[in-house]
Amino acid sequence: MGQVNSQLEDLDDLDRQAVLNYDLTIKGVCNKIKTGGVKNIVVIVGAGISTSAGIPDFRSPNSGIYNNLEEYNLPTPESLFDIDYFNENPESFYNFAKNLLPGNYYPTLSHYFLKLLAEHNILQKVYTQNIDMLERLAGIPSELLCECHGNFSTAYCSVCHKPCDSSIVEEGIMSNTVLKCFDKECNGYLKPGIVFYGEPLMKNFQLISANDLMAADLLIVMGTSLAVDPCANMPYQVDVYCPRLLLNNEVVGPFVNYKSSSNYRDVVSLGNLDDLVYIFAKEMGWDRELYRLQRNSYNKLDKLYHPDRLFNPLNTIISMIKSFSPFTPRVDDDDEYSVNSVNSKDTDEEIDDYSPNSMPYIIPAFF
Ligand code: OAD
Ligand code: ZN
Repeated sequence: MGQVNSQLEDLDDLDRQAVLNYDLTIKGVCNKIKTGGVKNIVVIVGAGISTSAGIPDFRSPNSGIYNNLEEYNLPTPESLFDIDYFNENPESFYNFAKNLLPGNYYPTLSHYFLKLLAEHNILQKVYTQNIDMLERLAGIPSELLCECHGNFSTAYCSVCHKPCDSSIVEEGIMSNTVLKCFDKECNGYLKPGIVFYGEPLMKNFQLISANDLMAADLLIVMGTSLAVDPCANMPYQVDVYCPRLLLNNEVVGPFVNYKSSSNYRDVVSLGNLDDLVYIFAKEMGWDRELYRLQRNSYNKLDKLYHPDRLFNPLNTIISMIKSFSPFTPRVDDDDEYSVNSVNSKDTDEEIDDYSPNSMPYIIPAFF
């Protein structure tokens, strides 16, 4: 931080102008990408990118998880994810955690936006604080993804840290049965591999994140209040020449000074995330590609989540009628597709222009 501050003082007006040409808008950021000035985007995301999938965030005034925990009589809302509190009172977490287990959620347009950056080879890394694993489901390659707060695919004892089968812990959570460590000598409880307050992050996190942040030529912060370290601290670690873009409902972290006359690199775009990423994609000329990415992935997920609907004759008839409707946006059926590899060439002339609000964020199987 000290180094970054002294670098800041060394910047003259030309240096500052070179960052975004003082065009502190999404358009300004996109121009920099279009002219080849951006190759390594680091994105920090939080619960806000999943709210449109139906998963609540933590701190939003009415809907946030931390504002709806009265029945658990916790010392503070964060105690729910505090390792010391868990070791004394595992019941609260076990009771609540069924709300956190990955369900049949669809990734949001914001998740596919991240995938789009990967498709265009300009994504250095996504740092997610989320434990819903929707980034994986959207097809973001694992080498470009850091799940800072872990996920439910692993499990271990809270005291001796011996790993155990995650499905056992999941069953315990579903049946409200607190599970003790298999080692009779140990006083720990089994917990999923999500990182609690007071627990260490993944090995080498500091080193890996420092390297990514040093390489970053654009930082994007999406859907997080930046209230929790280490992610809260990451925007301060990028180079002074690195533009920083916030896409969120509210201004957070270092972006609070974005209206200052000395600002030359912080872009703040406030609103609903799925609308904002759509505007970004449209500015880049990637809006159809983004839509196609989501549409094709949803078709795959429909088959996974709702296999029973596949052979329903009524749905098939409705789908046929809809496919002839002039109001139904269409994507060619022969588009090459897999969730992990998407044909990024945008040749589909049949997709009309969409305004963000008319985007069908969730497209159920045959409706
Ligand atoms: P928060 O709930 O703190 O912040 C979510 C942010 O997203 C807020 O600024 C919301 O205004 C914004 N937001 C929500 N929905 C949005 C939408 N549709 N469009 C635009 N903005 C939207 O969640 P996180 O920052 O992810 O940690 O929380 C960080 C960590 O705190 C979590 O990972 C969790 C929690 O304690 C642990 O459990 C260890
Ligand atoms: Zn143990």
